[in-house]
Amino acid sequence: MAALSENDAALAARQDCGFAVYVHWPFCAAKCPYCDFNSHVRPGGVDEARFMRAYRAELRHMSERMPGRTVTSIFFGGGTPSLMAPETVAAVIHEIAALWPLAGNAEITLEANPTSVEADRFAGYRAAGVNRLSLGVQSLNDADLKALGRLHSADEAVAALEIARATFPRVSFDLIYARPGQEVGPWADELSRALKLAADHLSAYQLTVEEDTPFFGLAARGRLKTPGEDLARALYDVTQELCEKAGLPAYEISNHAVPGGESRHNLTYWRGGDYVGVGAGAHGRVAEAGRRVATETLKKPEVWLEQVERAGHGLVAEEALSRGGAAREYLIMGLRLREGISLSRYAAIAGMPLSDTRLCPLADLGLVEQPTPDRLRASRSGRPLLDSLIAALAD
Ligand SMILES: C[S@@+](CC[C@H](N)C(=O)[O-])C[C@H]1O[C@@H](n2cnc3c(N)ncnc32)[C@H](O)[C@@H]1O
Ligand code: SF4
Repeated sequence: MAALSENDAALAARQDCGFAVYVHWPFCAAKCPYCDFNSHVRPGGVDEARFMRAYRAELRHMSERMPGRTVTSIFFGGGTPSLMAPETVAAVIHEIAALWPLAGNAEITLEANPTSVEADRFAGYRAAGVNRLSLGVQSLNDADLKALGRLHSADEAVAALEIARATFPRVSFDLIYARPGQEVGPWADELSRALKLAADHLSAYQLTVEEDTPFFGLAARGRLKTPGEDLARALYDVTQELCEKAGLPAYEISNHAVPGGESRHNLTYWRGGDYVGVGAGAHGRVAEAGRRVATETLKKPEVWLEQVERAGHGLVAEEALSRGGAAREYLIMGLRLREGISLSRYAAIAGMPLSDTRLCPLADLGLVEQPTPDRLRASRSGRPLLDSLIAALAD
């Protein structure tokens, strides 16, 4: 069935959420045993100049499909973008700025691993235009870093963080908790140390044992035991409490920031804005003829590269979302946020309001709340049950 167009109100609201460009660098120095991101190890190195030409070509293709928009954020994600030469990062930013107007206050983030080799490149990224660094610290405990397969020590991560804070106006770092064998007390100590090092933003992710990772195989054989439901909940609760006390409350399920320090790029995703994704395995959501179109590129880097060289883009799948599909996506993404969703915007996207028969039982249980008549969000007690809440509202 052909997708129906959104109405003008939904379209205007979407455009207000900013326009983001995501650039995926699909290579890492080593593969971490818990990670299922599209990242690959190439011991022989990669032809960076060739990749750079391909990024530029794919960006040109996407700019023809999304003309006239002002870019409000760029995000270099991975993989490990801190393996890219600063000149490559500079060339990509330059190309984006040549294809679209770039907002004067555009947020330009790069994900980095905290080894000393990578920290040596931070000044080069800053000179290229990057104004926000997101560091994958994961833990401040050497034994756990080893168990997570990380290539850096805790001291190295702290040193990289100091260099990052001296180099970039904005810095965030990632931690993974609910690790095998982790208890509340030691995690609270570690998180308290981390919060002393934090700038305006911190991401704290609960370890997910993803299928097709070495961790999944170990767990299936009983050789890796992650915290059970009650312990995981206690770890989540202490995370919320300590981050709030430190002035970095959660604005999204795993993301904490001082007010105003939120990742503007990720807010564009969660608020249902438009974004272009380039590089192997990148996803995008573009607006075409009043429709929201989901795009996806080829995952294998070399296959992506060859298609871009042949066809000017590495797109492999495109789907114009139906109004129901777009509304469901808005709900799934928006309820992750502390601010929740706009009910009138939901109705404008779906072409009908969110059903009371679904909403009322959850409100009666105190799992969702309406801070204003137009906004719906998960309550404090509903937030840890978000997946079930979304399923109850969206299905
Ligand atoms: C795509 S990674 C890129 C960052 C960078 N390569 C690094 O590892 O430092 C982004 C973040 O996702 C988180 N992550 C990846 N796999 C995860 C998993 N299975 N469970 C929880 N968090 C995960 C990590 O905190 C990581 O820093
Ligand atoms: S966690 Fe980061 S460094 Fe590790 S494999 Fe995934 S993307 Fe690469």
